[in-house]
Parts: sequence; C-alpha cells; structure tokens
Amino acid sequence: MRHERQLELLQRVADAGPTMRGLHGPASAVHSASEYTDRKRFDDEMRVLFREGVSFFALSCEMAEPGSYRSGMIGGVPILVVRQTDGTLRAVVNACRHRGAALVDGSTTGRDLDVLQCRYHLWTYELDGTLRARPGSAGAFDDVTMNCDLHQRPVAERHGMIFVRASGDAPIDVDETLSGAEDDLGAFGLEDFVHIETRTIGRAMNWKLLLDTFTESYHIRGLHAETLAPVFDSNCIIHDAFGPNVLAVGFRSDITDEFAKPVDERSLLPYGTIQYFLVPNALLVHQVDHVELWRLEPEAVDRTRAVVSVFAPERPRSERSWTYFVKNLDLLLQVTGGEDFPVMEQIQRNLESGALPEVVYGRNEAPLIHLHRSINDALAAAGCGPDH
Ligand code: FES
Ligand SMILES: [Fe+2]
Repeated sequence: MRHERQLELLQRVADAGPTMRGLHGPASAVHSASEYTDRKRFDDEMRVLFREGVSFFALSCEMAEPGSYRSGMIGGVPILVVRQTDGTLRAVVNACRHRGAALVDGSTTGRDLDVLQCRYHLWTYELDGTLRARPGSAGAFDDVTMNCDLHQRPVAERHGMIFVRASGDAPIDVDETLSGAEDDLGAFGLEDFVHIETRTIGRAMNWKLLLDTFTESYHIRGLHAETLAPVFDSNCIIHDAFGPNVLAVGFRSDITDEFAKPVDERSLLPYGTIQYFLVPNALLVHQVDHVELWRLEPEAVDRTRAVVSVFAPERPRSERSWTYFVKNLDLLLQVTGGEDFPVMEQIQRNLESGALPEVVYGRNEAPLIHLHRSINDALAAAGCGPDH
C-alpha cells in the first residue's frame, strides 16, 4: 500500500479518539432478515450481481503461463479461463458443446494445457474454445449445422487481477468495476505475487453472512476473546467506499505505539488487516507479508462454498518459509472455521425460523452497512425490489 495512503489511514485512527467513535459511520441500519433467507431474492442476486454483473475471478499469478487455467462457478455458471499462447485470456463456459460435461472439474487451477478435451467422448477444443475435433465419431455429427465452439464470456485483466462476466457479452472495464479501489490495489503489485495454496470449504449459510464475518471488528471482544482479542482492537474499523465495493481496515491494539514515531517513519502495514470487499464475490485481504483471497460460490440461499487462497509477495526461498505461509492459511481457517462460521450458521438457522423479522447494523459496523446497501441498490436498480 502506498505510504501516503497508509499515513492517511493511520491519521484517521489517531484522530478517532480513544473509543474510536470518530470512525463510526453516519447512521445505523435495520435490514429485513429475509435478505438472508428468501429464495426468490437469492435467485435475483445470482442473476443481477453474479451473472450479469462483473465477478472477480483470479489473480493473474494463478495463471501466468500460456496453457495455464482456472475454473470456478460464478452465480451457478461454470467458467473456465485459459491463458492463450499470446498471453491474452479467454473465458469460456466450462461445459462441452456435445452434451454438457465439464472440461475441467470443480474450482481448480492447472497448467500446461495444449488443448481442451472433454473426458466424456473426447471432443477436443483449441485453447480459445474453437472446436478442433470429435475423435472416433466416424462422421456421426457431419449433419450438425450448429456452431459447436465453446461459449465465450467477457474477461478482463488489470492490476494483476482477472474479472469475468458470466452472462451476456458486455465488455468489462476493470477500473470502472473497482470504482477507485484500483488506486490502492494497483499499488500492491499483485501481478508479482506467488500462489501458495488454495482450499475449499462449504458452510450452511447465506453468502452474505460469510462476508459479514469480516466486515466489523466489534465481535472480536466477544467471539474471539481468547484468540484475537488480546491483539486486535474491537472498536477500530476504517471504512472507505469505492462504488459498491468497500475497504474495511481493522487494527492491532498496539497501533498507538506507531504514533510515537515521526510521521514519515510510520507504517500501517504491521498493524492493519486491510480488506477489500469486491462486490459481489470476493474478499481480498492484504496482511503485512501476504495476501489472502476469499472467493464465494453460493450454492443455495443457505449454502456457500468458499475458495480460500494465500499468496506470498515473492517465491519463498526455503521450505520453512513456504510452511510459514501455509500456517497462516491454517490459522485463518482454524479461527474462522472454529469460531466465526459456527455462529454464522446458527444465525442462518435463527433467521430461517422466521421468528426474527429484522437485524440491526450499528454505526460501528459501517463496512457491513455499505456492503448491504450496495447489494440492495444493485437489485433495486435492476427492478428487483422487495415487492417484485
Ligand atoms: S459431453 Fe463432451 S464429448 Fe460428449
Ligand atoms: Fe471473526
């Protein structure tokens, strides 16, 4: 993160006062519990936000070489992005034009593809999705006049990040999608990061509850009393809106040590958990010495898969250093999986009961409020209000 930006954020903490009231948002908000439980609403979210909107797909470093690829689900659509021999990217629907089998299974990355081949009946496509051959069919499809190339989808790459639109053919403007967050994210040098490891988890909660987990520090005092509370501040969260996206920065309690230094020598990075929520499906977290990435693949209104990855700023030079980054991922999944997500699943069940018509977001949960307002605004703009 650029130094002047770190200083600006640090100054906001310094100015916020001992209780951090100065960081509060302008107003609390009450939202309907049905936003987490309504099936029709979930279908609208998948169409408007995930499929017709632009979704984060990958970091460029996950598929840097020609023939490397990543597959994933965007709003229920299987998407495969492949690095071409000229270095550009193609996004195709990850479904064979014969009878629909996936060309690459699940949400995964890989390399060294020469062609795309369906394992069912071995139809073979060029890396750009053009049908090359139907081996062994002995002319059985000669009378088919339909174009059988893989369906293409818009894809764009900038600032070391790759974005996809899972439905339609409207081109993607990455900076417009990031709505100002590119000034921060572009300075991270994400294109030079190295992928360490990815794991996939499945939890019985709405996708927004999974994101809510990270939007406020208010719960640290209670839920993480033993693990995070001794180190992290429960009152302090910085909120910056970038269009629909939101930055939320939580801090270690010892950040006040930094204010004893001359301004030019101050640094936010050792103290801050710098989180960019990229609506709708990604959370990119810049920690002092690595990046964590959450990609959400909602499966149902009450079921979400999360693909969780960790990246290092350069290739670890030793086995020990590699293990250090893997341990960070272990710890992240241990705390969220053992402490946060069981509560979020409990919340999902409680909201599903219908006995709690609404939830309340406080001024100390400003990133949470922004995230939900963004989502509701996007649905309303598409004509999907609560009454539709
Ligand atoms: S479904 Fe792919 S070759 Fe038959
Ligand atoms: Fe938490």
